[in-house]
Amino acid sequence: MLKQLCLLTMGLLAAVRSDAQAPYDTSARIASLLQKMTLQEKVAMIHASSPFTTGGVPRLSIPELTMSDGPHGVRPEFGRDWTLDGNVADSGTYLPTGVCLAATWNPKLGYAFGRVLGREAAYRGKNVILGPGVNIIRTPLNGRNFEYQSEDPFLAGRMAVGYIKGVQDQGISACVKHFAANNQETRRFTINVEMSERALREIYLPAFKASIQEGGVHTVMAAYNKFRGQWCSQNNYLLNQILKKEWGFKGLVMSDWDAVHSTMQPLWNGLDVEMGTDLRMLPNPNYGRFFMADTVLSLVRKGQYPEYLLNEKVSRILYVMMRNGMLDGRVPRKAYNTPDHQQAALSIAAEGIVLLKNENNFLPLQGRRIRHIAVIGVNADRKQSMGGGSSQVKAFYEVTPLEGLRRLAGDSIRITYARGYNIARGAGADPVLIAEAVEAARRADVVVYVGGSTHGYNYAVWEDNAYDAEATDKPDMFLPFGQDELLQAVLKANPKTAVVLMSGGALDMRKWLAQTPAVLQSWYAGMEGGNALAGILFGRINPSGKLPMTFPVKLEDHGAHALGQYPGDSVNVYYQDDIYVGYRYYDTYKVMPQFAFGHGLSYTSFAYSDLRISRSGRKVRVQFTVKNTGRRAGAEVAQLYVSPDGPALPRPMQELKGFDKVLLQPGEQRMLSLELNEDAFRYFDDRSNHWRLDPGNYTIRVGSSSRDLRLGGKIKM
Ligand code: BGC
Repeated sequence: MLKQLCLLTMGLLAAVRSDAQAPYDTSARIASLLQKMTLQEKVAMIHASSPFTTGGVPRLSIPELTMSDGPHGVRPEFGRDWTLDGNVADSGTYLPTGVCLAATWNPKLGYAFGRVLGREAAYRGKNVILGPGVNIIRTPLNGRNFEYQSEDPFLAGRMAVGYIKGVQDQGISACVKHFAANNQETRRFTINVEMSERALREIYLPAFKASIQEGGVHTVMAAYNKFRGQWCSQNNYLLNQILKKEWGFKGLVMSDWDAVHSTMQPLWNGLDVEMGTDLRMLPNPNYGRFFMADTVLSLVRKGQYPEYLLNEKVSRILYVMMRNGMLDGRVPRKAYNTPDHQQAALSIAAEGIVLLKNENNFLPLQGRRIRHIAVIGVNADRKQSMGGGSSQVKAFYEVTPLEGLRRLAGDSIRITYARGYNIARGAGADPVLIAEAVEAARRADVVVYVGGSTHGYNYAVWEDNAYDAEATDKPDMFLPFGQDELLQAVLKANPKTAVVLMSGGALDMRKWLAQTPAVLQSWYAGMEGGNALAGILFGRINPSGKLPMTFPVKLEDHGAHALGQYPGDSVNVYYQDDIYVGYRYYDTYKVMPQFAFGHGLSYTSFAYSDLRISRSGRKVRVQFTVKNTGRRAGAEVAQLYVSPDGPALPRPMQELKGFDKVLLQPGEQRMLSLELNEDAFRYFDDRSNHWRLDPGNYTIRVGSSSRDLRLGGKIKM
């Protein structure tokens, strides 16, 4: 029996061993460094040496690898005991959060975003910035949706590739996270995610794959959760088989902070660097006691872990150091709070804020006789940069919506402010604050309401009233703190009220949406967010953001909740919604969203014409003309969706496969040309475990949102 067990173990190890022999760099330089290193020096490199560094080898001039969150600014500094070090100069540019970036649908801004991060990370002496986060937005309740990009893998991938190149062109490594299937914060440390191979391949992996194969990202962070029974940080299938072997990833895989649970599995299954285990050792962290520290020394010495696998891990770390110039003393491109960083923050906010509703051109406010604006709502006067969890930033400055409005209004418009509600645990509608807000609304010509969700304030205090924040999901999709009641009262007092929602995603608007003429989704729009918002409200900026996710009428309508499980039982969550995530569910199951994927209004209008679809070999070219038919310059995001006419397996009604953003002057028109390759038509056939392209007809539609498609045609593949 014992012999059989031994044979079985050896067989398993052999299988794992062949998986681990994936491509990694074995260049002469790495080989020669490895040869000079002692076992202790190698082991020191594969685990943390402080909260955000791994061990270096000073004797061989191998520096520590220094990291920082991520993803939308360089995080303030921590001491070894994980308390914020208030005594150092550690401010940064606070960029709009990931979801606002994705709402720009502008990969060039992805690059600009990454460039700012890369330069400021360099200024602060970091080598790796822990972003972008590309997990799919599966449910509106996920507390970290604000950090992620989209419910759509194609859009998430495009934005991530721009971001990664922007960071890495500055000589800093990016880190795509959290690999994989980390789509909820509820029980994130323990939950086991189960899904079909098809959902994994079509929905949850493509943004990671694009980050690696197109973005060339140097590092990957393995997620907290389990996937098919194995922790992601020690998951042979995800790390060895898919990431390293199938996709040919050459960089290093680090664990999320405190996501490692044992020694042998991560050692064998593809983890290269263990981070954050000190969090469970506070107040006296001992880095030698990490799972992948002193134990590894004795395992190698006793012949229970082969040194060549340890060498592979070290080679990957050295490869990253080589790629970002650390071994050559190359100085990365540094800069600090420059006007062009501020401009990038402003442009991303300006293009990311989404105009959801604008009845009878209520907005912009400009050009009307407005003497008095009442600004109502806590988020108008609240700084958000230190909220959200690990993504917090000590912003150089942060222009709130109230400040932004005051700046633009100048002396001719009076602005009064009423907070309207309180952010506090369990706080409901407050009659005194409502009465005050109603009074302010009644006296004003128009009202700008700035409310929505909340983001917490300080990572050091894990506030339990933080809804868009790490380690917690939202309890429901309703506006918290009695805001429905407040809004109803304000709208009754003054129907000329524009509603601005700050949140990581959808909120239930049923109680007041019909009564308000205008709604803006402003996400968490960074340190220039207040200027961007005021610019849009006053018409200095023409909005061009589009939703990167579907906004449901109510939570129960959403695919993850209607078809799948959330948050699962105490052990597992089954993604029975399968490939029907976001608009793929709404369109296929014919459910009306509140606001569709890709929706976003402009102060001008666009016309689409002259669709031409042609094929050359396996490539399809789609050309069409977009014309600005209004009186203001504006940018349009033209979106292309593909639908199979007679799919062999059930498939989503349509899928986004291309988009382009174009700025047009009044009357100007431009021909856009999008190229599709075979990937745009393929699906993952889990009967044969292969991507497949069914020969036949495909319908291609282009237009302004997933529910506002203006042109259509067919192509035979
Ligand atoms: C988060 C990561 C972050 C890490 C380091 C974790 O709790 O999940 O996104 O990069 O902490 O702060």
